[in-house]
Formats: sequence, C-alpha cells, structure tokens
Amino acid sequence: MRRPIIAGNWKMHKTSAEARRLITDLKQLVGGAQVEVVVCPPFTALAAAVAAAAGSNISVGAQDIFWEDEGAYTGEISGPMLKELGCRYCIIGHSERRQYFGETNATVKKKVQAAFRSELTPIVCVGETLAEREAGQTLEVCRRQVEEGLGDLTPEQVARLVVAYEPVWAIGTGKNATGEDAQEAIGYIRERLAAMYGREAADKCRIQYGGSVKPENIAEFMARPDIDGALVGGASLDPISFAAIVNTAAED
Ligand code: PGA
Repeated sequence: MRRPIIAGNWKMHKTSAEARRLITDLKQLVGGAQVEVVVCPPFTALAAAVAAAAGSNISVGAQDIFWEDEGAYTGEISGPMLKELGCRYCIIGHSERRQYFGETNATVKKKVQAAFRSELTPIVCVGETLAEREAGQTLEVCRRQVEEGLGDLTPEQVARLVVAYEPVWAIGTGKNATGEDAQEAIGYIRERLAAMYGREAADKCRIQYGGSVKPENIAEFMARPDIDGALVGGASLDPISFAAIVNTAAED
C-alpha cells in the first residue's frame, strides 16, 4: 500500500513571517490526517517553516537543489545545506525551472543523485506542453523525461522516490487534466519505472498528479489506481483550500 502524499509548492510566495502564519493555521486544520503532508516554501522561508512545523505531521521540502555538495557556484544551494535546515523533500525539474532556467533531463538526473546523497526525497516533475499533447506526444515526452532524468538509480531509491506528473498546460491555468488522462500518463510512468527497475520498486514509488488541483477536483484523482496524491501550487497558498485537499485525499 502506498501512502498518499500531498505537497504544496509555494513557488516565489511567502516571507518567513507569512510562512510561519500559514503553517500555524495549517497545523490546526490537518492534524491527524492519514496522508503525508509536505510544504515547499522558498529557500529564505525554510528555516521558519521547519520551526513552525516542528512536532506536527507536516514535513518541509525545498523547491530546488544544486547538483554539487559545495563549491564555487554563486547563488546555489546544496543538499547538505537543505538537510541541515531540516528539509526532508526537494522538488526537482519543475516545468518553470525547465522553461525559465534551462533545466534539462540531464540536470534533473544530477540533482536527483544529489538529493539522495543528502537523504532528501526528490519530488521529480515531468509532463508535456500543450503543443506536445496536441501532437500526440504526451507518453513519449514522459518516457524521455523518466528514462533520462531518472536513470542510474537503485531499485531502493526508486521505491523512495516521488514523481509528479504535471502537464505544463494545466499548471496555474485552472484547466486540470481529467482523472482519466492523468491516470493514463501516470500508469505509463509506473510501467516505465517497472521496466527500468523492476515491478516491486515501481509499485512502491509514489506518483502524484499536479496542475490546477483544487478541493473540488482532488477526489477525481485520488480515485485512480496509480495516482498517489498531488503537487499543489496556487491552492496551497491558502490554508483552508490546502487543508481541504489534504483532508479529502485522506478520506479515499
Ligand atoms: P498549480 O501549480 O496547482 O497552481 O497549477 C502546480 C505546480 O506548479 O506544481
């Protein structure tokens, strides 16, 4: 049985003071929920978030990581730094990073290795653009992102990994994928992982859907056999809506 995981990607929102307030509110609303709950604030609010979440069922993740552990890489943040702060997760290869910051499957692969070196659980984002979907390339794009970004792992690492299938056209647009389309892509991703690392590892890997997830549509995704939770952007900035997503997911 895979334990569902609901993660909030705050993107470039919330100061430390705002993060503290949001997590304080969230703790009241999601205490005891039988799903894993993760919040991913900006780097500058991580310390405040870890302190605010202490003693609760909320874990903290970063939104990115650099692939080396230290060195002359101005502006970058490494795995050991995130680990020391108390982070447990790290989003890698979000489509906004691929689109605006030149991330590729090759950099994703190096970052996944770096996260595991520091005992952080990667949440690796994959998904097609609108043009790719319209050209019928959705599964091919996912195949390449999985094979190239998630190569050279051990089956044990794959069993601990989280993948987020996020169609780019669904992110921040209010237009979510249907449960059926998300299941098709996510089931396919699991089959690719099984071909690469074996059935047992693939069956343990948790795969989320992301892209305009809201309290109103989370149940549609949780009802699908291969969907193990959600990566939530906009709706994770409001404690009421994020808690509604968490608590609905916990009911399934
Ligand atoms: P959204 O973002 O929920 O605002 O669509 C999802 C994401 O970017 O992870």
